[in-house]
Amino acid sequence: MDTTLTETSPIKDAFNRPDKEVDASLRPPAFSDFRGQSKTVERLQVMTGAARKRGDALGHILLSGPPGLGKTSLAHILGHEMGCQVRVTSGPVIEKAGDLAGLLTNLEAGDILFIDEIHRIPKTVEEYLYSAMEDFQIDIMIDQGPNARSVNLPLQRFTLVGATTRVGLLTAPLRSRFTLQTRLSYYQREDLFHIVKRSCDLLKIRINDAGASEIAGRARGTPRIANNLVRFVRDFSEERGEGVITQDIAHAALELLEIDAQGLDEMDKRILRTLADHYKGGPAGLGTLAVAVSEEEQTIEEVHEPFLIQEGYLQRTPQGRVLTEKGWHALGIQPFLKDQQGELL
Ligand SMILES: Nc1ncnc2c1ncn2[C@@H]1O[C@H](COP(=O)(O)OP(=O)(O)OP(=O)(O)O)[C@@H](O)[C@H]1O
Ligand SMILES: [Mg+2]
Repeated sequence: MDTTLTETSPIKDAFNRPDKEVDASLRPPAFSDFRGQSKTVERLQVMTGAARKRGDALGHILLSGPPGLGKTSLAHILGHEMGCQVRVTSGPVIEKAGDLAGLLTNLEAGDILFIDEIHRIPKTVEEYLYSAMEDFQIDIMIDQGPNARSVNLPLQRFTLVGATTRVGLLTAPLRSRFTLQTRLSYYQREDLFHIVKRSCDLLKIRINDAGASEIAGRARGTPRIANNLVRFVRDFSEERGEGVITQDIAHAALELLEIDAQGLDEMDKRILRTLADHYKGGPAGLGTLAVAVSEEEQTIEEVHEPFLIQEGYLQRTPQGRVLTEKGWHALGIQPFLKDQQGELL
């Protein structure tokens, strides 16, 4: 299985992360600033409200979903709501059981340990998490050879918040130890509209409603993309306009980025076009498709497909990926007609 992503994962690169400081300044600090994801937010509010009343630590929480939808932001919001510290780490950084023990024994009662990309924790380390999460203790081996012995370390009642773009790669025993597993979905245009307006306020960018709506509609349902677009369109408005983001300015800037009216980016379109041109609409396997568009399989699976499938451009079938009628339409091509067995008519 493909758990061998390196630190410079193509998924993260492909996602064009903005610099950390700007990202942090736009991060919603409390539930009241966090738009959308109403189901997840309500679930988390129920848990934080009850835990606060009981004076207890929160149950363990697993946040999953495509990149840039707000998993890290929510982890910090949970810390803010509970008035506790959030220690941040990520799966690949925890290489040995000792690394994990070091993190866990330094936690105070009620603290949150946020493990980003939790699916990338080495399997040998993962097993130590089980007793830590369930019984708040960890047994680790110290020394080697004849002196090797197991030491039991008691832990404070902490909360593990895990984030993952690949919930399917988590083992069942780990998954079952989370009190709540909740998946973030792509944002509605209206929510993105408010996110764009808020970011512009914070960054002191002048924008009108039509401009904000144009950006919101083309942000692939993703706040991080919306924020990146805001910054590019701001630059465009300063270079080619009057410094105000209007619909015309936003439209022209996004054309320059080759982001179309549906928000599909270049790679999204390349995937659809390849399916149409090379495979007559499919089915095509993920591996073949990845080679044909020169992109990593994981990036296609985690970044591009979820959006294309949700928006109805693509279907995943046991035989492979298939272009839908909407997919053909988006390319402006007449679909190949096939019978029920998938044979061309
Ligand atoms: N609901 C929201 N309201 C306002 N802004 C948001 C919201 N969700 C995310 N953002 C913005 O999008 C940016 C990316 O969010 P975040 O880093 O939390 O995503 P993520 O799911 O952790 O992504 P990754 O999987 O790549 O780590 C944040 O800096 C924040 O500015
Ligand atoms: Mg994150």
